[in-house]
Amino acid sequence: MTLQARLTLYFVLLAVLMVTTISAINLGNEMQAKFDDTLTRAVSFRRLAMSAVKEALDRDRTLPIQEALRRPALVDYFQNIAFDSGEIEELAVVDPDTNLILLDTDPGAVGQEREKFADFEPLVKQAGWYQKLRALRNPTGRYQLETPLEAPPFRLSVRAVINPGLIEDDILRSLKQNGKVALGALVGAVIATFLFSTVAFRPLGVLRRQLDLVMSGHFEPEIPAEGKPGSNEFSIMASKVSLLGQRLRGAQFEVSDLRGNIDRLLQDLEDAVFIFNREHRLVFVSGSVKKFLGKERADLGDAGMEDIFPSSTALGLLIAHAAETGGAVRNRRVAGVLLSVDLLANAPGAPRDGSGFLVRLRDPEAQRKIGRELQTADRMAAISRISGGVAHEVKNPLNAMLLHVEVARAKLSHGDTDVAPQMEIISREILRLDRVVKTFLDFTRPVELNLTQVPLPELVGEIVDLARPQADAARIRISAHQESEGAEVRIDRDLLKQAVLNIVVNAMQAMPDGGELRFESSVREDTAEIRVGDTGAGIPPELRDKIFRLYYTTKKDGSGIGLAMTFRIVQLHDGTIDFTSEPGKGTTFFIRLPIAV
Ligand SMILES: Nc1ncnc2c1ncn2[C@@H]1O[C@H](COP(=O)(O)OP(=O)(O)O)[C@@H](O)[C@H]1O
Ligand SMILES: [Mg+2]
Repeated sequence: MTLQARLTLYFVLLAVLMVTTISAINLGNEMQAKFDDTLTRAVSFRRLAMSAVKEALDRDRTLPIQEALRRPALVDYFQNIAFDSGEIEELAVVDPDTNLILLDTDPGAVGQEREKFADFEPLVKQAGWYQKLRALRNPTGRYQLETPLEAPPFRLSVRAVINPGLIEDDILRSLKQNGKVALGALVGAVIATFLFSTVAFRPLGVLRRQLDLVMSGHFEPEIPAEGKPGSNEFSIMASKVSLLGQRLRGAQFEVSDLRGNIDRLLQDLEDAVFIFNREHRLVFVSGSVKKFLGKERADLGDAGMEDIFPSSTALGLLIAHAAETGGAVRNRRVAGVLLSVDLLANAPGAPRDGSGFLVRLRDPEAQRKIGRELQTADRMAAISRISGGVAHEVKNPLNAMLLHVEVARAKLSHGDTDVAPQMEIISREILRLDRVVKTFLDFTRPVELNLTQVPLPELVGEIVDLARPQADAARIRISAHQESEGAEVRIDRDLLKQAVLNIVVNAMQAMPDGGELRFESSVREDTAEIRVGDTGAGIPPELRDKIFRLYYTTKKDGSGIGLAMTFRIVQLHDGTIDFTSEPGKGTTFFIRLPIAV
């Protein structure tokens, strides 16, 4: 039922209630008035009758009472009174002791004994409206009004018999009139309510049409003319709706922009990306899905997670498990692909159950290809980083050789043939040059890695054991703190040990007067980290870019090869190396390696 219909109905019901109540009260009052009226009249007629009887008795005291009352004139008078009164059906003079009728409007009743009726006065004065109504409706019900007649020596009383049924006609008439007024009031109420609600609801109808327009995508509905100028509630509402429409349009543009961008992004993505909603139905999928599922993107529609990845398959089982527990999956290798599952939170700080799932499938081969390209670029950058010191290292022996060739030539031109010392130096420098070149070539030559899966704590433990004797001798305390239980790395064991040992040697050299050597290992997401810290002299910030260069050293007998080699080895393992240092306090080197999948 519409609000308008409901409102009309309520108003009509209210009107009915009011009209009936007023009519009932009115009717009750009228009934009471009628009864009062009847009583008054009955009392006055009875009084008339009484004085007529007295007069008759006084006039002829010799006659026996029955005779005196049997006079036709008196009977006539009685009948006239009763006829005039309306509701008085019978007027009689009775002997109260014997109940014998001495005079009656009905001459046949004289000399008979008559039953007594209920008293009329209490009915008028005390009875409730319901009893009165019953008295009206009862066709055989009679009441009486009886008063003793003071006419000594006789004991007589005058009785008026009243038929309330005769009042009913009057009441009915007034009821009809009342009913007409009530009906008129009701019809008026219905019409008034209908007109009122129509007027009152018209603005609502306009607003509803406005909202319908907004909902059907017509975002800027006009503000209707009647709402424009005023500042009433309706015009405020109308302009709010129009504002809402504008906002919605803005939001929709943003969303479609965003969607378009994401779409383009995902089209070009190597990975297949699926977004499922809370009910595990597909809401988004990237273009590359065909490569993985052999199905077109459009064919998937809003298929369920179970339909796309049946849990009878290893992949489906993993996804279903992740969806159920809400736990993320990272680059897990299943059925030839790398799988990641993430819970999507609906908003920052939203509850854990989130609003859906992001499933990513990645082709490891494509991944490796990209990895190899990146590696090549990395390697070239690394070589240039390492080779910064090589030119210097080549120039030194060349200069020395040039110098001694000049010296030898001068000697020979003066006839001095003792150039053996110069030849000695030159050949030594050639050897040195040869060594430099060989080392450099070693660095740039591709290395065949002998990869094995090694538990990280075990690797670090072995390095600690190797470092211990030398550390003891140099009064260096070793501490190890490992938080990498169960993590494994795929490495060339000997090469990587060498890489870390180079750092350890530097650390010990930085603490000639003893100190502390800290070993730590940890795992974060898919990366393992090995940290080696010392409490030595530290590395000045201006040397930050130089220390990894080949041949760069600050030590008298240093070779400058250690860190360059370490850098190269870590890089061969797809890892990274970095350090933090505080001059005077110490240095910590970090090696990060990918965790074996
Ligand atoms: N733990 C360290 N504390 C201070 N300086 C360091 C540390 N590690 C490396 N260095 C600096 O880096 C330079 C290069 O180190 P490296 O390549 O091993 O060559 P070398 O040890 O032969 O000098 C060192 O000469 C030193 O100045
Ligand atoms: Mg070194």
